[in-house]
Amino acid sequence: MKRAVARAGCALLPLLLAACQPSPGDQDPVPAARVEAALADPAKLGADVDAKTYRQRLDRRGFDPAQVVRGRELFVAHCASCHGQLAEGAPNWQKRRPDGTWPPPPLNGTAHDWHHSDQLLLRIMRDGGLSYGEFYRGAMPPMGDKLDEADRLAVLRYIQSLWSDEAWTLQQQLTRENPGN
Ligand code: HEC
Repeated sequence: MKRAVARAGCALLPLLLAACQPSPGDQDPVPAARVEAALADPAKLGADVDAKTYRQRLDRRGFDPAQVVRGRELFVAHCASCHGQLAEGAPNWQKRRPDGTWPPPPLNGTAHDWHHSDQLLLRIMRDGGLSYGEFYRGAMPPMGDKLDEADRLAVLRYIQSLWSDEAWTLQQQLTRENPGN
């Protein structure tokens, strides 16, 4: 309803059209053609496997391809400026900055994202780095006001689609057995 009103407003006020463009967090489901195009070239998503292997990986993990691609689009809009276009992290991400904060780490399974449960990763996304504790100095901003719960889960699934089977299996075990970590 709200959206219909917003659309009508956009139609009536063409000059304001640009301001009325929906944010990525307010999108309808990603159209099938866009999902297919994204899955055809996993390297552009940051996955180091070929298209067939990537698709099999999503299947095996029970991931919905449309959700993963939506997560990817949200990632590009909200996370890539810090975590890198391909979730590869900042250069020297392991080195604390002089002010005590950390540079944004990779989220592609090559750092320590997969050492945390789904619950904790989702919480860091919602509440920012400080919610993890003093170790993180909070250079990661809370994103809860920009991305709702479904958005955050979509981004998590996208990130996880980049992880190796080994990292995924271990992280899922942790998610079941020790969700606080
Ligand atoms: C302004 C830069 C910035 C933006 C934007 C940002 N992050 Fe971060 N992120 C960081 C930093 C820096 C850290 C390290 C923790 C800290 O210092 O707060 C981090 C940590 C994380 C972690 C914990 C990783 C780990 O290995 O423990 C996750 C998960 C994460 N970010 C996800 C995201 C997602 C998803 C988005 C987009 C929705 C996002 N971040 C947007 C800077 C950012």
